[in-house]
Amino acid sequence: MSAYEEEALGKAYDARLMRRLLTYLWPYRRTVAVALVAIIGHSALQLAQPYLTKLAIDSYIATGDLAGLNQIALVFLFVLLGAFILEYVRTYTLQMTGQRIMFDLRMQVYGHLQKLDVRFFDRNPVGRLMTRVTTDVDVLNELFASGVVAIFGDVFMLIGIMAVLLSMDWRLALVAFSVLPLIVMVTQWFRRHVRETYRTVRIWIARINAYLQEHITGMVTVQVFQREKRSFDAFDGINRTHRDANVASIFFYAVFYPAIELVGALAASLIIWFGGGWVLDESLTLGVLVAFLLYAQRFFRPISDMSEKFNILQSAMASSERIFALLDTPVEVSSPTKPTPRPAPARGRLEFDGVWFAYVDDNYVLRDVSFVVEPGQRIGIVGATGAGKTTIISLLMRFYDVSRGRILVDGIDIRELGLSDLRGLSSLVLQDAHLFAGSIAANVRLGDQTITDADVRAAIASVHAKPFIDQLPAGLASPVAERGATLSVGQKQLVTFARALAYEPRVLVLDEATSSVDTETEVLIQDALRVLMTGRTTIAIAHRLSTIQDMDRILVLHKGQLRETGTHQELLARRGIYYKLYQLQYQEQEIAAAG
Ligand SMILES: Nc1ncnc2c1ncn2[C@@H]1O[C@H](COP(=O)(O)OP(=O)(O)OP(=O)(O)O)[C@@H](O)[C@H]1O
Ligand SMILES: [Mg+2]
Repeated sequence: MSAYEEEALGKAYDARLMRRLLTYLWPYRRTVAVALVAIIGHSALQLAQPYLTKLAIDSYIATGDLAGLNQIALVFLFVLLGAFILEYVRTYTLQMTGQRIMFDLRMQVYGHLQKLDVRFFDRNPVGRLMTRVTTDVDVLNELFASGVVAIFGDVFMLIGIMAVLLSMDWRLALVAFSVLPLIVMVTQWFRRHVRETYRTVRIWIARINAYLQEHITGMVTVQVFQREKRSFDAFDGINRTHRDANVASIFFYAVFYPAIELVGALAASLIIWFGGGWVLDESLTLGVLVAFLLYAQRFFRPISDMSEKFNILQSAMASSERIFALLDTPVEVSSPTKPTPRPAPARGRLEFDGVWFAYVDDNYVLRDVSFVVEPGQRIGIVGATGAGKTTIISLLMRFYDVSRGRILVDGIDIRELGLSDLRGLSSLVLQDAHLFAGSIAANVRLGDQTITDADVRAAIASVHAKPFIDQLPAGLASPVAERGATLSVGQKQLVTFARALAYEPRVLVLDEATSSVDTETEVLIQDALRVLMTGRTTIAIAHRLSTIQDMDRILVLHKGQLRETGTHQELLARRGIYYKLYQLQYQEQEIAAAG
């Protein structure tokens, strides 16, 4: 359950994290300065209102000064207007800053994700990474939009009210402050419990996300194996716990706000009781009493607001810790600082020199693999499932770095080449063809504007994808659903062939799809492959031995070791592993033909 443990809340406030968070405010410091002025101005105007009321009562109503009363009413109107404008400025500037910071952070996180190596994605489930870019960034938006800056307003307001109260009448001020210990107690109680429930809610939201992510992607499997009921019940359980956790937190909110109001009312009654007596014995004016009552109302709002902000702060600390951890994940596979320039034009000679590789610890998946592919040569790799064929390709593309030995491209160790130089050299057609949502043409071009429409059409035609694409309603412009869900496996493969061809690579790397396609499509694919391979250094992993029979050389991989190499005929003559594989497939075909 390590995926959930990270939901544990850390410290409520971490100066190191906060300093780093504040750097995101820096580009918007002018806007923030405007917001701060608006916040303080707004608080000051709020403070002024009860005081104006006091003046109205004591100086004008009590003395019957109607002209003065008119004047002060006008001032009051302006104060209200000013407060309205300042509130608008505050809300607008803060929300805008929050949105901008959220945008910046998302770009930064996504930018970093793009640089991370495959090993990182092996380790980190998609659902978790999605949460970083969405929910966690949202929490920080809230911090900037209504937390970190707005808190100044609350503090200013609190101090301001206390100062005004003390200066108007210190006795009554002490009466008003006498409820403060109660407030502190209620707030502490609320904070402690809400923190706990908040944490539980977060854990269960993460579980809902993870569950949905996995089961929506695997919906077909769920349906085929009729797991609907079981899957539904499992989701019901998670969803229910999430709801209950939320309901639990509702309780604390539902008690907290009325409790704060109650304490406020208590303060008001104390003020009326004591203050009323002092008004009667004329040691206090009526205006001051009214002002005290009005201030008391305003006094408790910032306190409850601040507990709310404390929660925001706390979740922001947790979110930022996770986001920063992601941003700080070192990029293990990266271009060297001084890449060796690739010889131009590239020749496309590939060499594996004593390569060892393990995905985890020293569980070697490849053991001492050495071979050379001369420019323009076509080699096939065969071997049982799990023999390490795909791994060879992943190493060649530098998705992972070798554990021992080296891989050379045109005589240069690939770790010394720039990543773009290395990867730009070859086109890769993977076992599971990945298409993006968009048109077929866009999937062939993948955003490379130097590939013209004519190039796309030519590539499509060469790999025999034209007939099926012509049948689609909009031809090349026909939309492809996410992950190519609307195309058949064979069709997807053809589109990825066209993509590989359109890039005109020096080196072609193919990982044949394991799933079988019909004989007709198979013939098409075979022929498309021939077109693709012409004049290019080719490494093709094949499951159907028919695919690679006329390759210049075939490598036979067995449990991570290179066991046999030679042409189809040579390997058959050796009567070794290849011969056995061939026999097996041949028999299968015989059976299939007979059946
Ligand atoms: N990302 C990974 N993390 C850990 N182990 C892995 C990873 N990918 C592959 N392996 C392991 O490495 C071994 C070789 O895998 P590889 O994908 O290279 O096999 P393959 O020859 O391509 O098989 P297939 O014919 O099924 O495609 C397997 O035992 C597999 O379990
Ligand atoms: Mg494979």
